[in-house]
Amino acid sequence: MWDPAKYLDYADQRGRPFYELLGRVGAVAPRRVVDLGCGPGNLTKSLPSRWPSAILEASDSSPEMVAAAQAAGVPAEVRDVHDWKPAPDTDVVLSNAVLQWVPDHRDLLRRWAGELPSGAWCAMQVPGNFGAPSHALIRELASSPAWAPVLEPVVFRGDETVGEPQEYADLFADAGCQVDAWETTYVQRLDGPDPVLEWVSGTALRPIRAALDDASWTRFRAELAPLLAQAYPARADGTTWFGFRRIFAVARVP
Ligand SMILES: C[S@@+](CC[C@H](N)C(=O)[O-])C[C@H]1O[C@@H](n2cnc3c(N)ncnc32)[C@H](O)[C@@H]1O
Repeated sequence: MWDPAKYLDYADQRGRPFYELLGRVGAVAPRRVVDLGCGPGNLTKSLPSRWPSAILEASDSSPEMVAAAQAAGVPAEVRDVHDWKPAPDTDVVLSNAVLQWVPDHRDLLRRWAGELPSGAWCAMQVPGNFGAPSHALIRELASSPAWAPVLEPVVFRGDETVGEPQEYADLFADAGCQVDAWETTYVQRLDGPDPVLEWVSGTALRPIRAALDDASWTRFRAELAPLLAQAYPARADGTTWFGFRRIFAVARVP
């Protein structure tokens, strides 16, 4: 289950890649703009200011996120990305920080590139930090003898799901698209106690949270906190640097 409030804790840092992704979409007056996996809608709701004449379509597989998006004024619907088909007037489709949760997303990207109308833009962004200590430590702890029986099947293996920028460049180029693919590492300054633990609690730890009862979840977090604190030491001023690599691809259908 997604927790919109927890996810919004870092709305500013999580929002920046969305705008950088959008910055490489050259559509001038698209007829329909679609945000797949729109989450709580805080980013989606900025789209009409860029493209005021477009029909806005948004969906997410989480009813909690869709409720939050609707409350933010976004006409969101509950739908899994696998069930989405582009309407014939879809000129822009965005998916920001979603496809890392979808192991077969390469098949979807190829299908969308084939189904979108000529000249349409398809833009995606996924985290590329699954080799970072934050994720490696979660995987290590979840695979330890005490936790493995419950957590081994649910631990999030984004490293096996997400590709490198050139792989997405190849995928779209092979589909005949123009493509722009790149990566950026954001050096984020986090505040407060256990800031990296709080950050990952809103995303990567979600499947672990869902698999544990309250007492076990508290114990798991208590065991993870010192490991993260050692890997991401606080500065003298109490803030913590957290490097976050992200992967982007923007394709234009021929
Ligand atoms: C990290 S949030 C990103 C939300 C928003 N795009 C943003 O940039 O803030 C990931 C979102 O992907 C959604 N999601 C995960 N798997 C999905 C799927 N198979 N179909 C549709 N949405 C999915 C989740 O419900 C969640 O809202």
